[in-house]
Amino acid sequence: MKRIPTVQLCAPLLLLGAVASQPVLAAGSCSDLDFVDSKGNISLPENFRQNYTHLGSWFVPEGDASGFHDVYMDPASVKKYLKTKKFPDGAVMVKELRGAHRADYTTGANVARAVDSIKQTFVMIKDECGRHKGNPIWAEGWGWGLFSAEKGKPNMAKSFEADCKGCHVPAQNTDWVYIDAYPTLNESTYSGEGSSMMSSGH
Ligand code: HEC
Repeated sequence: MKRIPTVQLCAPLLLLGAVASQPVLAAGSCSDLDFVDSKGNISLPENFRQNYTHLGSWFVPEGDASGFHDVYMDPASVKKYLKTKKFPDGAVMVKELRGAHRADYTTGANVARAVDSIKQTFVMIKDECGRHKGNPIWAEGWGWGLFSAEKGKPNMAKSFEADCKGCHVPAQNTDWVYIDAYPTLNESTYSGEGSSMMSSGH
């Protein structure tokens, strides 16, 4: 995530209102967010599978969302989360849905794997500053995005209330994130900065 020196950023008055209502962040920390334009439109993070950290996966056995849900987050935010146990401003989470295919492998019968084609991709971008007040895809400290498999298409989500909220209420107490399935955000063996438990010799 880009970080602009504090002095440059906090001088203009434009951030004053936002900062005053959100005491969580020090004045001047509200720099532009990656994958968000000035109007608050969200685009799909490029190459997240190569550049982001895999947090964990879900397997949904049936229904429209059936298959694998693989969840990723930008690595800088993973490191901060491991230290603070909070999703930092600018954190980008991506959940990719793929159907499942079953076949016999040497590990066992009826083994399920994810197919190549993507069903949909969901995005959440953390905003501690209230940058896009009045924009319905920004709510509860996050920007909410949904993308079809077709490349370059804009966010299909029109509003958090209508498109996302109902299903995320059960995760409200963990900042609207279903953290149960993300061992990366828990494990002491994580090899990133902030970990002191890594064993050597392997
Ligand atoms: C049908 C219910 C449902 C809807 C609608 C829904 N979600 Fe979710 N979402 C879930 C559940 C349940 C999980 C975790 C388990 C899973 O994926 O099966 C999840 C997980 C996620 C994750 C991974 C991080 C996390 O919270 O654990 C992202 C990102 C996400 N959703 C974004 C969105 C966005 C953006 C919208 C609206 C455009 C949305 N979701 C709408 C149910 C839903």
